Amino acid sequence: MQDLLYELAISTAEVASVMLVDKRPADLGVAYTKSSSTDVVTEMDKASERLIVDRIRAARPGDAFLGEEGGESGGSSGVRWIVDPIDGTVNYLYGLPDWSVSIAAEVDGEVVVGVVAVPMRGELYTAARGQGAHLMREDGSSERLRCNTGVSLDKALVATGFGYSAERRAHQAESLMGVLPRVRDIRRGGSAAVDLCSVAAGRIDAYYERGPQEWDFAAGTLIVQEAGGTVGGLHGTPPSAELTIAAGPDLFPPLHDLLDEVGAARG
Ligand code: IPD
Repeated sequence: MQDLLYELAISTAEVASVMLVDKRPADLGVAYTKSSSTDVVTEMDKASERLIVDRIRAARPGDAFLGEEGGESGGSSGVRWIVDPIDGTVNYLYGLPDWSVSIAAEVDGEVVVGVVAVPMRGELYTAARGQGAHLMREDGSSERLRCNTGVSLDKALVATGFGYSAERRAHQAESLMGVLPRVRDIRRGGSAAVDLCSVAAGRIDAYYERGPQEWDFAAGTLIVQEAGGTVGGLHGTPPSAELTIAAGPDLFPPLHDLLDEVGAARG
């Protein structure tokens, strides 16, 4: 069954990606932010999620869904799909390339398949539990992913993200002040799912954020784990909105302790 879910997740992420690229209004961009920008992006988010859910439901009518736009809907098959129809909506709005379609499939509560499509980079990141994580490119080439190991905290390139509320951001800025002097540098890419794939691909060493939701990190978490990385929250808890940390297995403990020390899970 895992293979079927894997194929369905890949083909659905590809179809949604094509729609989002083709239907993105040509004049969407910074100017739009003054008037109806958020509505346009919300419409594209909704259209993408509708397409994804309809396509999967046509193939598997008994499955449940958790989507950023549509919330929870029940099913009796034991399979639940966790969908972020556009992760990195602000990048999508501005025409920046790092936005993604993220689809995970869970069987009896365990994520077994994760797919993150990054259409503007022509990249598709995939993982099936126990079968590794892969990057497939538009030109047909593919590679197995391995996250970086042997990186000390002071040499680590660390991505993070910020929430939408001003209060949350003030706390995030405060804890970031404690992180920045202790690592190589910080990146803010704008899509949690892409950040997780970048950890898996060794393009960055780690990612952490307070606030991401299940749809932001479900697929990316499996991709990091299958690339040999560790994903979790504070003190042995699973990744969650409280705090999600992803890194190579040897970098995870010192980064975890630093984030705990600076109060990255507060606010
Ligand atoms: C957001 C992105 C961003 C992260 C935010 C998320 P959205 O998702 O993943 O990188 O910092 O926490 O909410 O809103 O673009 O789907």
